[in-house]
Amino acid sequence: MGRQEIFMRLNNVRGGAELVKILLFSLSIMLAFVGFARFGVPLVVPAPPPVEEKLSGDITMEQYIALGDKIFNGKGTCTLCHSPVGGRAPLLATVGAIAAERLKDERYKGKATTPEEYLHESMVDPSAFVVAGFGKTGTNDTVSPMPNVSKGSIGLSDVEIGAVISYMQSIAGVEITVALPTGDAAVSEDEPAEIKVAENAQEAYAKFGCPMCHVIPGEEESGDVGPDLGKLKDTAAGRKEGYSAEQFVIEAVINPAADIAEGYEEGMPDDFGDQMMVTELNMIVNHLLGKE
Ligand code: HEC
Ligand code: HEC
Repeated sequence: MGRQEIFMRLNNVRGGAELVKILLFSLSIMLAFVGFARFGVPLVVPAPPPVEEKLSGDITMEQYIALGDKIFNGKGTCTLCHSPVGGRAPLLATVGAIAAERLKDERYKGKATTPEEYLHESMVDPSAFVVAGFGKTGTNDTVSPMPNVSKGSIGLSDVEIGAVISYMQSIAGVEITVALPTGDAAVSEDEPAEIKVAENAQEAYAKFGCPMCHVIPGEEESGDVGPDLGKLKDTAAGRKEGYSAEQFVIEAVINPAADIAEGYEEGMPDDFGDQMMVTELNMIVNHLLGKE
């Protein structure tokens, strides 16, 4: 994608001139870091959407683990929270081994009886056991901030959840107890991943997983990893000197390290600038500022 195409696309969006200024500014900063090789990528090429992983025919355990690795580090969005940055969720390198201890914990109130079942339950019913110190604020570690990853914007299938469990057992160096998928579950057509651009703010929120970490007006799913975004329409103007409300929100989304919201730590993904179409960013900003 060439420089000219970027300009053309930017000029097509509402508030083009202002946006171009701020986008060029952030582009120049990104360029300073990544060099010219990736020029043109930020903000115009969206990541492929989270399509269901396709498996065809019989696979080996090695392939199943590799699939789990890919989901864990990709569409599962696990590393948004389970990463050293921000420390908002426990690291999972040894959870395959720790699972057995969790079941004996006096605070454990779930239904799992084996370590594998614990890992499964952690993903689909996270509040069944909340790791001490990581619960939602004000719930005394009884409610987990982690979403059910089989639902909502992540929506992993049973086969995909099994793959992630095999991956977590593999990196912990424990015996892999997950059964390989068989029959229909494993066999499906290979389709090319289609890049779907969100058509409204709601689709954009779902595509990028914003409601996992934020309260957003009109969204059912909500999280408290980051600030309540419902207040932005009243507070964004004047938050940063020389910035309009729009400019403040744009920067908060594509360059979160520039300002860390008071009372929060880092933890906002910093690659939305690489993944979003300008139109998607615009819809999000307008919606958050109550202009939709
Ligand atoms: C929005 C943030 C968030 C996302 C996304 C997320 N998690 Fe979590 N997860 C947490 C938090 C916080 C905890 C600790 C509280 C608890 O025990 O539920 C946790 C706990 C866990 C545990 C239990 C850890 C233990 O030591 O017992 C497992 C297993 C786990 N997550 C796996 C995953 C996997 C796999 C994914 C991706 C498919 C994922 N999580 C996505 C925030 C998240
Ligand atoms: C994994 C969790 C996570 C996800 C996913 C996430 N955020 Fe955030 N967000 C945070 C955290 C933590 C902060 C506070 C730290 C900071 O200001 O960077 C934050 C801060 C913000 C702020 C600044 C708020 C203020 O009052 O200063 C905005 C705006 C924002 N996020 C929008 C979004 C949008 C839009 C999306 C989806 C495209 C999104 N976030 C996805 C965690 C997340």
